[in-house]
Amino acid sequence: MFNLHGKKGLVIGVANNQSIAFGCAKSFGLCGADLAITYLNAKAEPHVKPLADILGAKIFAPLDVEDPAQMEALFERIKKEWGRLDFVVHSIAFAPKDDLHGRVVDSSREGFMRSMDISCHSFVRLARYAEPLMDQGGTLLTMSYMGADEVVNNYGIMGPVKAALQSVSRYLAAELGPRGIRVHAVSPGPLKTRASSGIKAFDDLVEHAIEKSPLHTLVSIEDVGALSAFLCSDVAKTLTGGTIYIDGGYNIVGS
Ligand SMILES: NC(=O)c1ccc[n+]([C@@H]2O[C@H](COP(=O)([O-])OP(=O)(O)OC[C@H]3O[C@@H](n4cnc5c(N)ncnc54)[C@H](O)[C@@H]3O)[C@@H](O)[C@H]2O)c1
Repeated sequence: MFNLHGKKGLVIGVANNQSIAFGCAKSFGLCGADLAITYLNAKAEPHVKPLADILGAKIFAPLDVEDPAQMEALFERIKKEWGRLDFVVHSIAFAPKDDLHGRVVDSSREGFMRSMDISCHSFVRLARYAEPLMDQGGTLLTMSYMGADEVVNNYGIMGPVKAALQSVSRYLAAELGPRGIRVHAVSPGPLKTRASSGIKAFDDLVEHAIEKSPLHTLVSIEDVGALSAFLCSDVAKTLTGGTIYIDGGYNIVGS
């Protein structure tokens, strides 16, 4: 597809074989990249380890982004074993159920801040750790959703959180561009994953996307993976800062 031979990438967000991060990691592997794969905690490890093995991951390590020591240890290891990094994929999100399922108006301060920390500011922290390892340039990707741009039923506080994430990716692109580091938010249409199963009436969103999108199609994790491989390759060397939609064109018609 795209040549990523010799490139070293960190992929965060593989929970199972339906994860968008797994689709990305598969594409990166097919394109020849060396991979570091993380898992959330001891409960997740046995589910992620076989996938990391399939991917031939060179580094397999825990990362709960709420634990600063784990993030530090991960980057120490990458520095020691690789000495550099070419791309990072941040494909994680979290919101407490009560806050996600309620109105934004009613969201708790704690729930909103925790969602923002895990789903958005963690991308800033990853960028800060990655910057010194990307002295030959690099790519930082994060996953957003249409609910950042317009009100989507039942998307709740993740809408404002994803809007902040898209804004963060623009600021990071502006600040890190002079070092040759490119930054994008990728915005896929709805995909059935563990994270999306937490959204009420998600099937309606899926049906709506098929019906309304100009291509009348859903995207797959492999589609998102192929796009991500393109964005991390040198072919995309003059692209940065934008939110890239991969949704069968849904974003141009809206709800
Ligand atoms: N599924 C969709 O329809 C869809 C559409 C657009 C964007 N997205 C976004 O794609 C990303 C990946 O989600 P997915 O759909 O592949 O679901 P998923 O459940 O497979 O992935 C979510 C990941 O977040 C990780 N995570 C949660 N809290 C974490 C923490 N504290 N530290 C580290 N990791 C943590 C989980 O371990 C999991 O691997 C999310 O940002 C999601 O909002 C999903």
